[in-house]
Amino acid sequence: MTKAARITIPDLQRLKVEGQRITMLTAYDYPFARIVDDAGIDMILVGDSLGIVVQGHGTTLPVTMDQMIYHTEMVSRAVQHALVIGDMPFMSFQVSDDEAVRNAGRFLQEGGAAAVKLESPPSMLSRVAAIAAADIPVMAHLGLSPQSVHKMGGYKVQGRDPGGAQRLLDSAKRAEDAGAFALLIEGVPMAVARDITRAVSIPTIGIGAGAACDGQVIVLHDLLGLFDEFSPKFIKRYVNLREIVSAAVTQYKDEVMNGQFPSERESY
Ligand code: KIV
Repeated sequence: MTKAARITIPDLQRLKVEGQRITMLTAYDYPFARIVDDAGIDMILVGDSLGIVVQGHGTTLPVTMDQMIYHTEMVSRAVQHALVIGDMPFMSFQVSDDEAVRNAGRFLQEGGAAAVKLESPPSMLSRVAAIAAADIPVMAHLGLSPQSVHKMGGYKVQGRDPGGAQRLLDSAKRAEDAGAFALLIEGVPMAVARDITRAVSIPTIGIGAGAACDGQVIVLHDLLGLFDEFSPKFIKRYVNLREIVSAAVTQYKDEVMNGQFPSERESY
């Protein structure tokens, strides 16, 4: 079977113009990245959500640049089709434009990614401009910013009131003007995401933002039912892999205990 060609930034722009939906998922390691890539997903985000679903932290805040590079490398090695995006972790871009550009560059140089994403409240839009000016493709992340969990007082839907909705729309236009190649819109009412999608010419990718965005992303471990510690309304679990893996592990344990494994077939 011949592999589909590598997805590029211009391809994503074309998909928006043609009104074709864009698919994006997270992945954090080689085996899952291969599965996601083989399924023909357009973009793979090595999300800092790995702090929660892989490392077991309560927030994404402890995740470091070196850890992100480690995971991005694994994913990049697996991927032949999707555009790989490295997610800039907390404190990798907040201090200055210079640090943001240097750390964004590491994702491409050391991690093998083709682009980066960063949580982009209005105060961080200059980082988007600096990274784009260095010719590093950058996706701006608007709406609910998990790295701002303490400031928000929890993971709260953003832009519910007219003032908040207008601020999001303004940020979206500013991010496009700053040179972002796409917008990730998280945790906003569907009407607000729809208005943003109509107002900008770059693709919008939604998570908890309704169906009017140009594309969708969710966290792979949520889709697979591998993470059940909390489950926001926008998650759809397509399989309960936790149950399936647990049954296999229990069967292995039982077979070792009762002498069924290894049998002659598994012996030399
Ligand atoms: O870290 C992450 O996985 C994200 C989600 C919005 C997909 O940013």
